[in-house]
Amino acid sequence: MRKAMFEAEVGDDVFDEDPTVKDLQKKAAALLGKEDALFISSGTMGNLIAIMNHCNVRGSEAYCGDKSHVVLHEQGGAAQVAGVSLRTLPNNEDGTFDLKKLDSAIRNPDSIHEPVSKLILVENTLNGKIIPQSWIEELMVVVKKHNLKTHLDGARLWNVSIASGISIEKLAAPFDSVTFCLSKGLGAPVGSVLCGSKSFIVDAKRKRKVLGGAMRQVGILAAAGLVSLEESVPRLAEDHRRAITIARAINQLNSKIFSVDLKTVHTNIIMINVNADSGVSAMAFMNRLHQSIDDNSDDKIIIKCFAMTETFVRMVLYYDIDDSMMDAAIRKLRYVINLLDPQVQI
Ligand SMILES: Cc1ncc(COP(=O)(O)O)c(C=O)c1O
Repeated sequence: MRKAMFEAEVGDDVFDEDPTVKDLQKKAAALLGKEDALFISSGTMGNLIAIMNHCNVRGSEAYCGDKSHVVLHEQGGAAQVAGVSLRTLPNNEDGTFDLKKLDSAIRNPDSIHEPVSKLILVENTLNGKIIPQSWIEELMVVVKKHNLKTHLDGARLWNVSIASGISIEKLAAPFDSVTFCLSKGLGAPVGSVLCGSKSFIVDAKRKRKVLGGAMRQVGILAAAGLVSLEESVPRLAEDHRRAITIARAINQLNSKIFSVDLKTVHTNIIMINVNADSGVSAMAFMNRLHQSIDDNSDDKIIIKCFAMTETFVRMVLYYDIDDSMMDAAIRKLRYVINLLDPQVQI
């Protein structure tokens, strides 16, 4: 990847003159079955541009699940930058939301008192869970009924495709626009791609510019993205195998405090449930996994995980983590779980 970046042919992408960026955009659009694509700096930027594009009337409202990244982790950019309100619907266990609730949340277009319903945002995977395609088909019936637009936050859409065997094109097809990330699981240092119709991408390019996201000789980053698509995508199955292996190893300890619902480990994310009644918080568990305190080789291992809520710690597998690191992570987990839950036998 570094070699491809070093050797990348570049030009001024603000003037559409970077051949490597053009290659990446062309490839991404073809893979997703969309007319065009735009290289952008991040998944957050992709979601924001999509919201700005689709919600082209001031006072628009967009709908998403209450556990989605766009509402929890993107600073309310929809409101802050785009002047759009996000209305959340409670996410079900499987990552879907209730379509009857959505249907009744849609505003009356003839009422001057209400915002204008414009856009539905779907995240797939949501915390590693694959959203059922059957639900997406049902969602599109509601979308059509109310003449809405749809954006897919597919930061980890390649994981869905590899784990489910459904082509990325089929996953993207129902949506007007889709973002996927080249960074994170795919191992590129920077970048995401926003895909949609030709006119959508023309508008997206304008929005990217005002957000400060038009970059110059950015082919060095696009080159890494091209390597990601070719080399990282086929090996995502290994991340999925490692995630379920770690999850099973945690459950084998039979701890009353720490467990994983194996039904939720579809791809590369493990959500470890920390029983709050035990007096151990998810934060305390995360902090201990980040630390190396004792003179013990297992405790020398650091796991960079994240306490998402008071009861869940998230671990994510990606490009750089191989089997020996997976084994090391299991040793550290066993060590820390035994410390925090002494009834566990290791
Ligand atoms: C589902 C989802 N969407 C969007 C993003 C934002 O991506 P970025 O960090 O590139 O802005 C993330 C980041 O983790 C994510 O998980």
